[in-house]
Amino acid sequence: MTLKLSRLAVLTSALFLSATSNADTFSFENKISSNADTLVLFQSDTHKSAAMTSYDKKTQGQLSKAASVNEFTGAYNSFVEILAPTNLDYDRVLLVGLGSETLSQAQLTQLGGNISANLSKKQIQNIALSGQSFNAEQAAQLAHGINLRAYQFDKYKQEKYQEKSYSFSVSNKKDVVKHYQQLADIQSGIFLARDLTNEVPTELTPVDFANQAKALEKLGVTVTVLEPNELKKLGMNALEAVGRGSDQGSRLVVAHYQGSDDAPVAIIGKGITFDSGGYNIKTHESIVRMKSDMAGAAAALGTVQALAKMKANVNVVAVMGMAANMVSESSVAPGDVLTTAEGLSVEITNTDAEGRLVLIDAMWYAREKFKPSVLVDIATLTGGKYRALGTELGGIFSTDDKLVKQLTYAGKSVNEPLWHLPLGYEDMLKSSIADLRNTGSGGPSATTAATFLQHFTGDTPWAHIDMAGNALNASAKNEYPVGGTGYGVRLLTEWLLTRDNSK
Ligand code: BES
Ligand code: MN
Ligand code: ZN
Repeated sequence: MTLKLSRLAVLTSALFLSATSNADTFSFENKISSNADTLVLFQSDTHKSAAMTSYDKKTQGQLSKAASVNEFTGAYNSFVEILAPTNLDYDRVLLVGLGSETLSQAQLTQLGGNISANLSKKQIQNIALSGQSFNAEQAAQLAHGINLRAYQFDKYKQEKYQEKSYSFSVSNKKDVVKHYQQLADIQSGIFLARDLTNEVPTELTPVDFANQAKALEKLGVTVTVLEPNELKKLGMNALEAVGRGSDQGSRLVVAHYQGSDDAPVAIIGKGITFDSGGYNIKTHESIVRMKSDMAGAAAALGTVQALAKMKANVNVVAVMGMAANMVSESSVAPGDVLTTAEGLSVEITNTDAEGRLVLIDAMWYAREKFKPSVLVDIATLTGGKYRALGTELGGIFSTDDKLVKQLTYAGKSVNEPLWHLPLGYEDMLKSSIADLRNTGSGGPSATTAATFLQHFTGDTPWAHIDMAGNALNASAKNEYPVGGTGYGVRLLTEWLLTRDNSK
C-alpha cells in the first residue's frame, strides 16, 4: 500500500491563498523505489550504508569515485551529484553527507531544506530517498525540511511551480507517517503565515486578513472580528487610530482554539498590512518590504491553525491588531494624543511607531476578555532590533525569566533562535502632555518599544518577541525559501506543545 500524503490535503482551504502554495507529495515505503529519475543516498562520515555499498558496486565504483574526486567525505550538509550513472535506471544520484549520525531535529530540517535546493531542477520530478538508517522522527523531520524549502509563492508568476513526488524508503512506515502528520499540521500553519506575509498590500487588507482568519472556523476555532466603531466603543482608540488613514480602517481579529480547560495563553500579533510610516513617512528603500509588517499576526494565526489541525491539548487565543498605516487627511498627526483602552494616554511623537499602538489595545482586550495565564506578543516592531540581531535571531524581552528560558529553548530546537534583550530606559517615555510618548526620546529603540509595551501587561506574565528582519528573506537559505518565512509559527507551536513539561 502506498500512503500518499499530499500537501494539498494539509493546507488551509482558505480559498485564494491556498492556491499559491506548491504541493510536493511524499509517500513512505519499505523499499527504495526504482521508479524514479533521481536517487538520493545518505552517507555518514564514518561508514558506508548498505545502500551506498550496493549501488557503488552496481555502478562499478562510479559513486565512490565521484565522491573522492569531489572530496566528499560524508561531512554534514555536503552534496555530490552524479549524472547518468552506469547500470542504474536513475538519471542521477545525489549523495548527501550526514556527518555524525546523531543529528538534532533542527539539523535534520535544515539538511532537508538543502536537499530540496539541490533537487530544484525542473527535470527532476520523481525522487527516491533511501532512508532506512533513520528512525521515524528523523525521517519525518527530513521530509518536513524538504517541504519547507520547496514552498514557492508563484501566484503572480507566469511560470508555476512544478510538483515533485518523493518516495522515501523507511524501516517503520507507520511510525514515520504519524510523525510526518504532526509536522504537516505545523507546516500548514507555516505556509498560511508565509502566504499572508507574501501577499501584496492591496490584496491583503485588514478585512482580507479577517476573512482568512474566519476560514479557521471549520477547524473548531472561534473567530471574532471587531470593526472600527466597535473598537471606539470599547475605548480601543490606539488601534483604531492607526488605521484611520486607510479606507477600511482597523480591525481586531480574535481566533480562539480551546483544546483544554486551562486558562488560555494569549498570543498578540502586530498586523500592519502596510507600514508607510504615516506622516513620519518612510524615506528609506526598506518601505518596499513593509507589506510584511503583519508577519507577527500571521505567526499568531498560523500557530492557532497548526494547533487546531492537530487537535492539540492546549487553550490558545490569538489576538491580532490589524491596520494599514497610511497617509491621508484623516491619519493621526504627529503631536496627537490618544487614550488607550487601558486608560493611559499616549502622545504620538512619531506615526511610524504604530506597531506598539495596535499591540497595546490588543493586549488589553486579551486580558479583559480571556484572563490569560500568559501573554506573548510577536511583532515586526523596530529597526533597532534588526540592526542589533539581523535576520536569523529574534529578540525576546520579558520580566519573567521562566518564559525567556522556555521560549528560547523552543526556538533553538526548531531553528528559530531568540536572543534575550533588556527592558529599561523608562525615563525616555515621559511626555509633557500625556502619560506616555510612543517613542523614546533617546535610548535603544527596541528596548524603549518593549518598555512601552510593558505598561500594558498588568500582572500577567508577559514576553515580547521582536521579529523585525525575520519575516521576509531576500534570498533562500536552508529550509527557508525566498520571501515570507513564517517565522514564529514553529517557535510558538513548539513552545505551546512542550511548555507543560518544563513548568
Ligand atoms: N515596521 C517597522 C519596523 C521594521 C523595520 C520592521 C525594519 C521590519 C524591518 C516599525 O513600525 C517602525 O517603523 N519602527 C520604527 C520606530 C521608530 C519610529 C521609533 C523604527 O524602528 O525605525
Ligand atoms: Mn512603522
Ligand atoms: Zn511597523
